[in-house]
Amino acid sequence: MAQEDVFKKLVSHCKEYGFVFPSSEIYDGLGAVYDYGQNGVELKNNIKKYWWDAMVKLNDNVVGIDSSIFMHPTIWKASGHVDAFNDPLIDNKDSKKRYRADVLIEEQMAKYDEKIEKEIEKAKKKFGESFDEAKFRETNPRVQENQAKRDALHTRFAKALNDNNLEELRQIILDEEIVCPISGTRNWTEVRQFNLMFTTEMGSTADGSMKIYLRPETAQGIFVNFLNVQKTGRMKIPFGIAQIGKAFRNEIVARQFIFRMREFEQMEMQFFVRPGEEMKWFEYWKAFRMKWHQALGMGAENYQFHDHDKLAHYANAATDIEFRMPFGFKEVEGIHSRTNFDLSQHAKYSGKKIEYFDPELNQSYTPYVIETSIGVDRMFLSTLAGAYTEEQLEGGDSRVVLKLPAQLAPVKLAVMPLVKKDGLPEKAREILNTMKLEFNCQYDEKDSIGKRYRRQDAIGTPFCVTVDHQTIEDNTVTVRYRDTMQQERISVDELHAMISKNVNNNELFKQLV
Ligand code: GAP
Repeated sequence: MAQEDVFKKLVSHCKEYGFVFPSSEIYDGLGAVYDYGQNGVELKNNIKKYWWDAMVKLNDNVVGIDSSIFMHPTIWKASGHVDAFNDPLIDNKDSKKRYRADVLIEEQMAKYDEKIEKEIEKAKKKFGESFDEAKFRETNPRVQENQAKRDALHTRFAKALNDNNLEELRQIILDEEIVCPISGTRNWTEVRQFNLMFTTEMGSTADGSMKIYLRPETAQGIFVNFLNVQKTGRMKIPFGIAQIGKAFRNEIVARQFIFRMREFEQMEMQFFVRPGEEMKWFEYWKAFRMKWHQALGMGAENYQFHDHDKLAHYANAATDIEFRMPFGFKEVEGIHSRTNFDLSQHAKYSGKKIEYFDPELNQSYTPYVIETSIGVDRMFLSTLAGAYTEEQLEGGDSRVVLKLPAQLAPVKLAVMPLVKKDGLPEKAREILNTMKLEFNCQYDEKDSIGKRYRRQDAIGTPFCVTVDHQTIEDNTVTVRYRDTMQQERISVDELHAMISKNVNNNELFKQLV
C-alpha cells in the first residue's frame, strides 16, 4: 500500500477509535488544532509518564517543575524569540496559498531521496540475495546523478539558511522548478520572514494592559527558574530541570495532522553543565534519548539522527532524532547544546546575577546547557504510525491492529464473558474489579467474541481475558495475546502478575540504566 494511503487510514482510524478529533469539529474545525479522545488521552498520558519517570525518576540529578504559560514579555525579547523566531514564507500568486520556503526545498530534497530509493528497490528485486547496495550506490549512473543533484541542493540550501539569505531561498525554488501543489505554477512572490508567536493582552484595557506572548517553547520557564530550583533544591552542577507543558506557534504550513500543530505539548529538559563540558554531555544525552526511543521495541532501523544544517541562534551543536513516519523520516525530538546564551541573556535583561558557584573549582560561572526537547504529539503520532498494522488472516479474513508497546497501550486488558448468562458476567466483573485497581481495563459482553477481539485490536489492547464455564469450575481464564492472537489458559491468580510484568515501565527502564 502507498505510504500516503497508510497515513490517510491512520488519520481516519484515530478519529473512528477515539484517539484524535479535529478541534471545534461541529463548527467546521480550527486549522491545525486537535483534541484527544478517550483512547488518545490515555496513550498521551502513558507517553508523558514514560518520559517523566525516565528523566526525573531514573536520573537522580534531574528534577521537575511546572511553570506558567504566561510569562513576562521581556523574557521573549531576551531569548531572541521576538526578533528571530521566524519562518521564511513564500506565496503562490495564482493559488494564493502560502508556504514555508525551507519546507518546499526540503520536500524537493526528499524527492531526490525517493528516486534513489526506488532505483535501489528495483535492483534489490532484480538481483535478490546477491545484491550489494553500497556498490550499487557507488556505480549506478541514475543513483549517482540524483545523489549529486541532492548534495548540491543541500549545500546551497544550508548556506542560504545560515546566511539568512531570503533572495537565495527564492532563487533555489525557481532553479529547482518547484511548483505550487495547488495551482501547479511557478508564479512565486518574494520570501518574507514571519514571526510565529501568538500574542494576547493581560490586564484591563485602556491604559493598564500589557501585550504578552503565549510561550512557543517551555524551555524559557526553566531558565527563568534556574536560581529558584538550584538554591531551594541545593542542586550541584551537573543537574537538569524537566518540564511537560503546552506550547503555541502560529505555524503557516500546518499540514500532516498532529505533526505540526498550532497548540501542542512539549517535554523538555535543560541540563546545566560546566563550560567546556557541554560536548561530553551533548553526546551523553543523545545516546540516552535514543535508547529511550528504541527501548519501546519499534525497530532500531526506524530511527536516525539528523544533524542540523542551520543552528538556532542559541546553539553550538544540534541534532534531531527522526522516526520513519508514513511520509518519510521526520523529527520527533531535538537535542541542542544551547551554550550559556539563555542564562546570560536573562541576566542581561533582568539585571540579576544568574551564576553558579562551583565549590570544586572554587569559582562562579554561567552554566552551559544541553537541552532535550520532544513533542508529545509527535511522539504520539510516531508511536501510532509504528504500531498501525493491517493483517491478512487465514480464511480470507483481515484485521487492523495497533501493535503498541504494552506499556503505552490505552487499555491494558479487556475482560469478556463468553455468554451473557450462567453467572459468567458476574465472574467477569469480579475479575475486572480486582484488575481495575491497577490497570486501565474494559468490560465487553456485546457481539461475538471474534468481533470483541477486533475492537480491542483496533485500540491496541495487549490482553483479552475470556471468562467461560470452566472459569466457574477451576478459576482459570483464556488469555488471548494481541500480536500473535494465540490463546493460553491461565489461573486467575496468575493474571495480575503476568499483566503487571508486561505493562510496567520497569522493563523499559532496565534498558536505560
Ligand atoms: N526548546 C527547543 C524547541 O522548542 P524545537 O525543535 O522547535 O525546539 C522541539 O521543538 C520539539 O517540539 C520538536 O522536535 C517537535 O517534536 C515539537 N514541535 C515543535 N513544533 C511543533 C508543532 N508545531 N507541532 C507539534 N510539535 C511540535
